[in-house]
Amino acid sequence: MKLILLGPPGAGKGTQAVRLVEHYKIPQISTGDILRKAVKEGTEMGAMAKGYMDKGALVPDEVVIGIIRDRILESDCKNGYILDGFPRTIAQAEALDEMLGKMNSRLDHVVNIAVKDEEIVKRLTGRRTCPACGAGYHIQFDPPAKEGVCDKCGGALIQRDDDTEGTIRSRLKVYREQTEPLISFYGTKGLLRTIPGEGGMEEIFNSILIALGGDKIPGSDA
Ligand code: AP5
Repeated sequence: MKLILLGPPGAGKGTQAVRLVEHYKIPQISTGDILRKAVKEGTEMGAMAKGYMDKGALVPDEVVIGIIRDRILESDCKNGYILDGFPRTIAQAEALDEMLGKMNSRLDHVVNIAVKDEEIVKRLTGRRTCPACGAGYHIQFDPPAKEGVCDKCGGALIQRDDDTEGTIRSRLKVYREQTEPLISFYGTKGLLRTIPGEGGMEEIFNSILIALGGDKIPGSDA
């Protein structure tokens, strides 16, 4: 299963990727997470990427294409992977096609999670993440048991630097201009499945499983 999760910032790509990893036993590859790790570790790539990320702009194509080229060759990707946040431009999508072609491989599905802008602003301003284990929360829609503390590892939750309203609006503009054209790019190839991204997280997960040709989770009433 080689899958792309497409959708605007805050659509729930990361939230659904966690469930898909568990279900399909394949890794999630998030270019955003890889870049944030590089920023935190103070690498040369991280220092370069930070300026773009803080403004809500895209990091240059050649940097993220290089990240993906290395990552999909790792052994845990042999049975497939979930690309979360890549590709984000037509140039990235074409580079991915070329990489896969050279590997005699191809994508199976592209899932587009559709959410309206005002819902996205609510979701992203309320998002909290655990820097220690990567778990994600929302202060209203998915709160931790104890405010500010990660349920899974006890770490102190933080708000991402780019989750302020001004930067969220910039990210949405960049999404409309540079990433949304991928919907017709993959639509033309017959790979695209669009899922309404508003509703309960489990309900959306079940819609994705059905779109991917599987059944919903047994026992789920979502
Ligand atoms: P990245 O980390 O990829 O950010 P993004 O695409 O903006 O996506 P998010 O992580 O913000 O949202 P998500 O869809 O994963 O939502 P989540 O599940 O967390 O990229 C960050 C930056 O890195 C970019 O701006 C760019 O600078 C750079 N970058 C990364 N990849 C790049 C690339 N390929 N090329 C160039 N630059 C790149 O959910 C959000 C919140 O909503 C959470 O709090 C969650 O709990 C809540 N939520 C989720 N689902 C629901 C629901 N159904 N109902 C209610 N709340 C929900």
